[in-house]
Amino acid sequence: MKAVAILNIKGGVGKSTIAFNLAHAIERHNRSVLLVDLDMQSNLTDMAVSQPERITYSVYDLMTDDTVLPPNCVYPTVIPNVDIIPADLRLFDIQQVLNPSPTHWLCFNPGLPENSILTTMLSSIADRKSACSL
Ligand SMILES: Nc1ncnc2c1ncn2[C@@H]1O[C@H](COP(=O)(O)OP(=O)(O)OP(=O)(O)O)[C@@H](O)[C@H]1O
Ligand SMILES: [Mg+2]
Repeated sequence: MKAVAILNIKGGVGKSTIAFNLAHAIERHNRSVLLVDLDMQSNLTDMAVSQPERITYSVYDLMTDDTVLPPNCVYPTVIPNVDIIPADLRLFDIQQVLNPSPTHWLCFNPGLPENSILTTMLSSIADRKSACSL
C-alpha cells in the first residue's frame, strides 16, 4: 500500500479537492483507496460520503477510543472502490487530547516510528488497500 498525505498550511488551496480527485484517478486504475479525513471542517467527508446518516464513528473516535477499531470507522463513498474514514468537528481539540505530540500521530512513513498512532490504527486495513490518501 502507498500512503499519500495532502497538507498545506494555507487554507482554500485545493487540498480536499485534490484528495477527492486523486482517489478517483487512482481507483480508475483498478486500485482500492482509503481516504482519511483529518480536517475538523470535514469538507472531504461531506463531498465523498455516500450515506452520511450511517456514520457512527469518525477518525476522532479511532484515535481516542481504544474500543473503536479501524473497520468500524470505514464508510463507502460516492466513488466505487474508494472508502473513507470521516472527520468531525471534535478534531478541533485532538492535540490536547492526544499524548504524545501531533507530529507523532501524523506519521505514516515506514522510515518513521512504527508505533505512530496513524501507522498503528491503519495497519490492520492497509493490506486491503492499494492507496491511502490522508
Ligand atoms: N483546480 C481548481 N481550480 C479551481 N477551483 C478549485 C480548484 N481546486 C479547488 N478549487 C475550489 O477552491 C475552493 C477550495 O478548495 P478546497 O476546499 O479543496 O481547498 P482546501 O485547501 O481543502 O480548503 P481548506 O483549507 O478550507 O480545507 C473550493 O471552492 C474548490 O471547489
Ligand atoms: Mg479542505
